[in-house]
Amino acid sequence: MARHTSILIVDDEEIMREILETLLSREGYSVRTAASGAEGIELAKSIPFDAAILDVMMPGMDGMAVLNELKKLDDDLPVIMITAFASVENAIAAMKRGAFDYITKPFKNDEVLVVIRNAVERRQLIAENTALKQNLQAQTQNFAGIIGRSPKMKQVFDLIIQAAPSRSTILITGESGTGKELVARAIHTHSSRPDKAFVTVNSGNLPPELLESTLFGHVKGAFTGAVYPKKGLCDMADKGTIFFDEIGNIPLETQAKLLRVIQEREFMRLGGMETIKVDVRIIAATNCDLRQMMEAGRFREDLYYRLHVINVYLPPLRQRKEDIPILAQHFLVKYGEENNKRALELAPEALDLLMDYHWPGNVRELENVIERAVVLATGPRIGGDLIPDQVRTAPAFQIPKFVVPPEGISFKDVITSVEKRLIESTLEAAGGVQKRAAELLGIKPTTLNEMIKRYEIGARRSRRPTGADDEDPASAAASYDGDETLKSS
Ligand SMILES: Nc1ncnc2c1ncn2[C@@H]1O[C@H](COP(=O)(O)OP(=O)(O)OP(=O)(O)O)[C@@H](O)[C@H]1O
Ligand SMILES: [Mg+2]
Repeated sequence: MARHTSILIVDDEEIMREILETLLSREGYSVRTAASGAEGIELAKSIPFDAAILDVMMPGMDGMAVLNELKKLDDDLPVIMITAFASVENAIAAMKRGAFDYITKPFKNDEVLVVIRNAVERRQLIAENTALKQNLQAQTQNFAGIIGRSPKMKQVFDLIIQAAPSRSTILITGESGTGKELVARAIHTHSSRPDKAFVTVNSGNLPPELLESTLFGHVKGAFTGAVYPKKGLCDMADKGTIFFDEIGNIPLETQAKLLRVIQEREFMRLGGMETIKVDVRIIAATNCDLRQMMEAGRFREDLYYRLHVINVYLPPLRQRKEDIPILAQHFLVKYGEENNKRALELAPEALDLLMDYHWPGNVRELENVIERAVVLATGPRIGGDLIPDQVRTAPAFQIPKFVVPPEGISFKDVITSVEKRLIESTLEAAGGVQKRAAELLGIKPTTLNEMIKRYEIGARRSRRPTGADDEDPASAAASYDGDETLKSS
């Protein structure tokens, strides 16, 4: 245990340094000595020590002062004070200031060795404890390779832990780039079958027949070119997990067959008659709104409900910005290693830019931005200049995605409701001041006022208490304050 354990001795008397050095070296400690406090501190700055022995009475900087300085460098360093018998009080004062123990002169060799051993043991305990704590922290911020510390991601981790061991079907939803595939893999690793296959089906844009033969295999002669019988992905995933990525892209015909796999755990080969049993865990992912697709008749209702047994929703990155710094750090290390650039550092102004951006491409986009910055970096520091334009000049405004129902929709109604929403949001941003809102929208205040009246846009509780809180919003239409011209018009 004494191997590689390093001890610092600070004493102005040469004979004392020699006695202690001989004693401790013989025990296998590696010993460094200093003849003055200042010299001892210099040493401690350049070499990490496991314990230190300080003489209290020294000319110049005394032991107490050295103790203070050493503690500033390393608060956990056990420091042992050596005092003349007469100054035990001093030693006690030193203990109060954080010294580990003290020895009075003259001392016995064994006494010194016991104290040092205790000190080193405690030092190791503290070190182990710290490592343990760091590990625990790492575990909660990095769950099976999913980085996150936001409460929203912690919930996701909890849900994975709860749901993974069962065989229930899991649907993972979330915008593109939020980590759905990562989560699917994490579920598999935490399942009761982590050593079995994890098979991904990219439901993508394969024509139905090809998709089905990929999934279920086919018999000889099932279609032109099917010269040999072939097994499918469902066979490969037996006893393991099958992951349907982009389940929303699966054509209706195939959906029925998939339903059978989920319900009965069985399927038939393309062109075949025989029923094949499989034991698979099914995980599906999508970034579409399946409910909307179902209502539009593009997704089977029964399949929808079968998939929805357990839903893991991954929130967009802009709704969990506290994850951005640790994700950025994670990718910095990852791409730093790949590119042989270690110890890279993200400058505060670069991180600010990352924090302000709305990340429509979510974690994938962040990963790409960091990878690019790492590749382009010429020094250890990644400054704002390495952050691409799209991130720095990010428009905070996003047009919502429209999904037109199959029965069609009135163009006028849509435009009207968009206009109404836009005005409401702008008024909110302008604190209810119509003139300011009109400026923000680049329209004339009179035009805005007309629209507010036409759409019967109500005043939300504005910054000035008006006592009109219980007023019907419609009747308060004209009560936006702060715009004298309009009020008198
Ligand atoms: N929380 C995270 N921690 C670490 N890496 C992440 C995290 N989320 C996503 N990533 C990384 O971002 C990239 C995109 O993630 P993934 O492919 O899982 O997203 P997705 O939701 O499946 O996207 P899409 O809908 O476009 O398929 C991957 O490289 C993934 O490793
Ligand atoms: Mg994906």
